[in-house]
Amino acid sequence: MCGIVGATGVNQVLPSLLKGLEKLEYRGYDSAGVYVNGGKDGDFLVREKGRVSRLKAATENKHITGTAGIAHTRWATHGGVSVENAHPHMSEDGRFYLVHNGVIENFDELRDNYLQGVKLQSETDTEIAVQLIDKFSKEDNLSTFDALRKMISLLDDNSAYGFLLMDNETPDLMYAAKKKSPLLIGVSDQANVVTSDAAAMLDITQDFIELMDGEVAIIDKEKVTLFDVQGKQIERESFHLDIDASETDKGVYPYYMLKEIDEQVIVAHTLSQHYFDDDANVQNIDDEIIDAIKASDRLYIVAAGTSYHAGLVGKRYFEKWTGIPTEVHISSEFAYDQPLLSQRPFFIFLSQSGETADSREVLDNVVKQGYPSLTIANVMNSTLTREATFALPLLAGPEIAVASTKAYTAQIIVEAILAHAVGNSEVDLKNELAKAAVEMQVIIDQKDKFKIIAEQALKNQSSAFYIGRGLDAAVAVEAALKLKEISYIQTEGFAAGELKHGTISLIEEGTPVLGLVTQSKTAGLVRGEIAQVSARGANTVIIASKSLAKANDAYVLPDVDELLMPLLTVIPAQLIAYYATLDRGLDVDRPRNLAKSVTVQ
Ligand code: AGP
Repeated sequence: MCGIVGATGVNQVLPSLLKGLEKLEYRGYDSAGVYVNGGKDGDFLVREKGRVSRLKAATENKHITGTAGIAHTRWATHGGVSVENAHPHMSEDGRFYLVHNGVIENFDELRDNYLQGVKLQSETDTEIAVQLIDKFSKEDNLSTFDALRKMISLLDDNSAYGFLLMDNETPDLMYAAKKKSPLLIGVSDQANVVTSDAAAMLDITQDFIELMDGEVAIIDKEKVTLFDVQGKQIERESFHLDIDASETDKGVYPYYMLKEIDEQVIVAHTLSQHYFDDDANVQNIDDEIIDAIKASDRLYIVAAGTSYHAGLVGKRYFEKWTGIPTEVHISSEFAYDQPLLSQRPFFIFLSQSGETADSREVLDNVVKQGYPSLTIANVMNSTLTREATFALPLLAGPEIAVASTKAYTAQIIVEAILAHAVGNSEVDLKNELAKAAVEMQVIIDQKDKFKIIAEQALKNQSSAFYIGRGLDAAVAVEAALKLKEISYIQTEGFAAGELKHGTISLIEEGTPVLGLVTQSKTAGLVRGEIAQVSARGANTVIIASKSLAKANDAYVLPDVDELLMPLLTVIPAQLIAYYATLDRGLDVDRPRNLAKSVTVQ
């Protein structure tokens, strides 16, 4: 997704903007640009295709001065990857500069109706917006604020935007507006900033004000003025983010993904401390949440990608420990193909970012229908946490790598604790989770084994399978996503019993099939299915729990409660994906075509 940063009141603002863009790189992009108002030195607009490092190099010999500016990383939607399509976009007369995250659905209609005769420089919807502001400012003699609001009033309801605008006639001011695409305003004594993601500007401030849908803000170096949809001035307190800027750095790690795989153990301990008291009673989950779930007759877990996979695991906990039937749905499907709901549904949204557009679409519908909902997310103060009835934190710390790892295991842990709290299960969950955390560390400390497995099983391979049954099938789809999304090896996660109903035809000499065997009820069956593919030439790799292990298994996992085995089984899959990707010389943290937070549908 596109990334936005802006700042005013910072001496030599350019380095802060470029550093902010570097912090946003994990979101995925294909071009970048910056505008700095240089006062008497004039306006500086620099844009480049590719990485922020190219943009940085392009600014080096331009002696860019200035204390206010805006910058952007673009993930192409309307218009190809080119310098002309990169943001900031400039109005025809060079007065206005605009960056945008989102999509203006009716931009071509606006172009045809209002911008006849304007020489457009790009194929983008964003340029239409900045040219409209220019037009309304001149022809209707409107202030920049009113010209911006008039442009916004013309956008159709399905449009999404995070706008950050500068006008070189008011050089210290920034104008921000937002609908669906998140924007935060950072406030400090020295300077004020605007950003798509707080992590980008933590070097300047840890205090932020949330901009809500339909609102507009005018920001200068001393103050922030908020206006509601009707243009009425409103007040809003800032919130303090307890994230130290260093937490968003890689430190000694070569990649964020490896750091975040390692951090899973700390996260498990953090969650245990947060959600259990010294007597192993659950705490920090409001009784209202427990009661609302108890009052329901069916749970609907809704999520995307890895979070959806965490829901497949959590379903088992809710059904086993609460006795409430539980469905798990992919957000983008549920949003437009809602199944017949029970009489008293309760919705659980799982999300690392809290901003996934597909999940937000479902939450909008759920709220409109008046149903109760809970968001379990890593980024609190995000749209999904704010708009659901209830919210619970994952406390995993910033997850920067596109491939989600610690958020997945954190989601599984919080689902287990919640189900345990609702169902008063007999399991000594605090102790079982503590054991799982210890064993997670044991596995993480054996990275060399997974480096070897990745080399032996996946080198020069273009396809692979992860198979299992029950909870192992749930982990298999997550294992497959990890491998395919960063190594680009076409990988399927498959219910082992289903292979013989068609897909086994894909098995040929050397096809890597990684079998997961941690569930005693089906271990024999899965080993039979592994034997079937092996008989057809597959190169099989078995990852089994100790109590179910056999000689020649590639890796033996320590034993914990079978229901919690996904916390262990996923770690080899994360590390195998990591090493397979390194073997291919690919960027582990920033795979092609992908964004960390998919904030458009
Ligand atoms: C997981 O590795 C991917 N990055 C992706 O599937 C991600 O889990 C999905 O986009 C959902 O994001 P969310 O958890 O922030 O809602």
